[in-house]
Amino acid sequence: MEFHNEVDASKLLGAQTHIINHIFSYVNSMSLRCAVDLGIPDIIHNHGQPMPFSQLTSSLPIHPSKSGYVYRLMRFLIHSGFFAQQKVSEDDPQEGYILTDASTLLLKDNPFSLTAYLLTATDTILTKSCHDLSTWFQNDDSSPFVTANGMSFWEYAGKQPKLSEVFNEAMANDATLVSSVVIKKCKGVFEGMESLVDVGGGTGNLAKAIAKEFPQLECTVFDLPQVVSDLQGRENLRYIGGDMFEAIPPANAILLKWVLHNWNDEQCVEILKKCKEAITSKGEKGKVIIIDIIIENEKGDDESSETQLFFDMMMMVAVTGRERNKKEWIKLFFSAGFYDYKITPILGLRSLIEVYP
Ligand SMILES: C[S@@+](CC[C@H](N)C(=O)[O-])C[C@H]1O[C@@H](n2cnc3c(N)ncnc32)[C@H](O)[C@@H]1O
Repeated sequence: MEFHNEVDASKLLGAQTHIINHIFSYVNSMSLRCAVDLGIPDIIHNHGQPMPFSQLTSSLPIHPSKSGYVYRLMRFLIHSGFFAQQKVSEDDPQEGYILTDASTLLLKDNPFSLTAYLLTATDTILTKSCHDLSTWFQNDDSSPFVTANGMSFWEYAGKQPKLSEVFNEAMANDATLVSSVVIKKCKGVFEGMESLVDVGGGTGNLAKAIAKEFPQLECTVFDLPQVVSDLQGRENLRYIGGDMFEAIPPANAILLKWVLHNWNDEQCVEILKKCKEAITSKGEKGKVIIIDIIIENEKGDDESSETQLFFDMMMMVAVTGRERNKKEWIKLFFSAGFYDYKITPILGLRSLIEVYP
């Protein structure tokens, strides 16, 4: 193949860069994981001021022969926005590493920490499943996870307490962030309600926050027995173990946060029908409250849209789910016998959707 002119050559080289950039995309997640495994965000944070390179390397749990490599890891993570450099002080011209907003969310003790999420998503159990994506396209397994591991993600989590613990922690931290936004901006959604079941509510952080804010509201966290059997309720919060495909405890309203995107359309209609059966009241109070992604939202910027599509691919790899656009959501609601809905896009990548029977 020959280049006919300079434009052809520069287009081809641009395409080459684009492909190589994609080929190495996993270096982004793996470098970030390495930084978290080594405790770099916490070490810089605990230092209390910009941390010079020599102090960082001497604080890290690494072999002395590896100190020089830390500079390259940090240079890469500065480029991708996880760290920055700043003068140590007015009198000290040397530069030190500081955190950015993104790495603040990777501190262990940050209640909104994404560390557990990072560790789950980059666990070999999931990266191995990504390797099996094309094999899965050629077989009739329900997900690449099943192709790679011989069982579904939920079965695997039930058998591997370590994975389950980190996954539940990831969900709990996200629920803490979501609850603070929902309670601040959407208080009206829960007002006047007497009972609420958080279906697939994990370890209950969202329900705990709602129960605390609305002491008259009886809140139930309903999840698989493996997730809730050891958890203790208190005051207006209780835990019930069970399978949402069989029956959901009755309540005025049902909450489904980050649940429906785990399941295919037929399974979602089944879940929503069970929710409809469980709803005990009519009018404004009787509803399903969904917190999930709506894709193809014109308002989204490039990074948000790409992140939503990453989620869609991961739902395909790990479980049987998908992300949905507005039309696809509405189709699910009507197929399950619901008649009205209201979308409030207040949660970054996700929206709060109220669905009425
Ligand atoms: C992605 S997590 C979301 C957890 C929580 N709602 C949150 O957003 O923090 C999905 C949850 O659904 C639960 N789950 C999976 N299958 C279930 C079933 N058949 N019945 C009840 N819960 C189930 C999982 O154990 C998990 O806690």
